[in-house]
Amino acid sequence: MIPHDTISQIFDAARVEEVVADFVSLKRRGSNFTGLCPFHNERTPSFHVSPTKGIYKCFGCGKAGNSVNFVMEHEKFTYPEALRYLAKKYNIEIQEQAETAEQVADKSAREGLMAITDFAAKYFAGQLFNTDEGLSVGVSYFHGRSFSDETIREFQLGYSPDEWDAFSKHAVKNGFSAEMLEKSGLSINKDGKLYDRFRGRVMFPIHSQAGRVIGFGGRIMTSDKTRPKYVNSPESEIYNKSKVLYGISFAKHAIAANDMCFLVEGYTDVISMYRAGVQNVVSSSGTSLTADQIRLIKRYTPNITILYDGDPAGIKASFRGIDMILEQGMNVKVVLFPDGEDPDSFARSRRGAEVQEFIQQNAKDFIHFKIDLLLSETGRDPIKRVTVLKDFIESISLIPDQLTRLAYVKESAYRMQMDETAILNELNKLMRKKYTQKAGATAPEAEEIDNLFAPEPAVQQESFDALSTEDIEREIIRQLLLYGDVEIETNYPDPVTGVPVKNNVKAAGFIINDIKADELDFTNAQYQQIFDTCVNELKNNPDIDYRKLTNHPDNAISGPVIDLIATKYTFSPNWEKRKIRLLQEHEVLDFLIPNSILSFKSKRVRQILKELLEKIKTAESDEVSIDLQKQFMNAKRIANLIDGGQLGRTIV
Ligand code: CTP
Ligand code: MN
Repeated sequence: MIPHDTISQIFDAARVEEVVADFVSLKRRGSNFTGLCPFHNERTPSFHVSPTKGIYKCFGCGKAGNSVNFVMEHEKFTYPEALRYLAKKYNIEIQEQAETAEQVADKSAREGLMAITDFAAKYFAGQLFNTDEGLSVGVSYFHGRSFSDETIREFQLGYSPDEWDAFSKHAVKNGFSAEMLEKSGLSINKDGKLYDRFRGRVMFPIHSQAGRVIGFGGRIMTSDKTRPKYVNSPESEIYNKSKVLYGISFAKHAIAANDMCFLVEGYTDVISMYRAGVQNVVSSSGTSLTADQIRLIKRYTPNITILYDGDPAGIKASFRGIDMILEQGMNVKVVLFPDGEDPDSFARSRRGAEVQEFIQQNAKDFIHFKIDLLLSETGRDPIKRVTVLKDFIESISLIPDQLTRLAYVKESAYRMQMDETAILNELNKLMRKKYTQKAGATAPEAEEIDNLFAPEPAVQQESFDALSTEDIEREIIRQLLLYGDVEIETNYPDPVTGVPVKNNVKAAGFIINDIKADELDFTNAQYQQIFDTCVNELKNNPDIDYRKLTNHPDNAISGPVIDLIATKYTFSPNWEKRKIRLLQEHEVLDFLIPNSILSFKSKRVRQILKELLEKIKTAESDEVSIDLQKQFMNAKRIANLIDGGQLGRTIV
């Protein structure tokens, strides 16, 4: 169990923009950040992060939350997993309180599997460096491939001894159950006996985006052609092959920083390129790229360069996958390596600067590359050329951006020596067909999104009176949260002399004192809870830091707070039609805050009067009745004061 203090410490340290930036490439926009939403597929960014509010919200899919919610949602972590992850990120030490048996049993299956893969990665690394077999077979193999010890350690490479059950035995001895070991794919259960899946192989741990080991690839050490060169972990609750890219946790920052992702075929390609200084590189590990993997890359950059080893058949086979990348609105380039070389062998024998220069000089736009390759095969055969053209137009039609499409049409007309308008007509025909096929989903308007974190428009008094009690309560809490530490000027009659006196007070103190002075409460329990939390917060702190609330460990508090301050609050639907310059909300706080409190009180007191009358009617004894009547008179007095506009008399 994580102690309460530590939880608060983690929430305080975890800045939402930093936490999100590990997974999403964010661009600054004013005081906020935007990026492509990691929770749904989109081409234009509607995912917003507000550092001051300590929250994120996607205006496309509606997902919103604080830094802890983000990692829970994104990494599918449980609450404690998310806290541990953030604690690690911010170097906060967790001194665990003893867990009860029940809590141990409750740990999710995912956490259990992660514990096994982590344990296994350490075991394999230990076998590599600390055993004779590991050193003579594994380490010397890696050295032979020019991997330094530093690289081996960084990628957590390892070695699985050439025995039937060395790992399984070791894991069972360390308390892992046969059932979990089998689930993790590291052990195979045959007639009740556990065998190791990986035997006599060098081990490549596969990391999640967050850098946790979720699976393994193991490469054979013999030249036995009857056994597969690589054995990989089977799919499990934590390892979903089509959603993972090998190397992503090492590459993600470099991908965003270089605004480019290199895509290679295998484990060793990633490591060799990385070692050569090209760190923005990932691999789909031998399979063709999936839509999920493309989306994963797209969180960091819209630019992909595919690094091929020079085999035309293999390249052509990959064209279909590349069309999928174009369809996601990404820019695709390809680099062809010299005959017989793959990125691994090429990078191994050269210095980093040379590798980078080669890539830069040989990167070709995919669509050009595709025409050139196809045309080189068709020669002058007109029929074949038409087939190529159709194939090519199909690729262009997938590009979401119109100008980019047109640029390709021009270019290809030139290359194929064809009439531009003919190509354009063909393209338009195809596009129309596609459009009618999938009419429907529309992206949110960019402008609309721009406004969402903008200052709120000011509201007229009459709008308040039209609000329900619940709405006005929400409004007061919202003002308390958003403007609590802003100073407002009040101008109320002195209770003795009746002369109006100007006063400068912090909005939070004003709101809280005023509501508490009349002993009013909120009908909505959640708002009451937030209000009470603010009251407590103010006892220790001169200002309300709404990070404390958006980051509150209790979701019942953080949830509604996030909703309140992330949502554009427009309850005056006519303001656009009135065509007057609307004052921004923060310009009229002196007016706005007292008036919403007034409105709240007026509503609330009337409700209370009604309730008291009911109670008086059914009072069981005179004693109770007298007490109720006293309360009634007091409420009546307040109602009169409110109606007389005498607010703020309790402000000192
Ligand atoms: N692969 C696999 N299973 C195989 C063969 C290949 O999973 N039986 C995957 C691995 O991820 C491998 C990638 O496909 O890294 C590319 O295959 P290949 O080019 O054959 O392997 P290399 O990475 O080049 O490995 P090496 O250089 O060690 O031969
Ligand atoms: Mn290779």
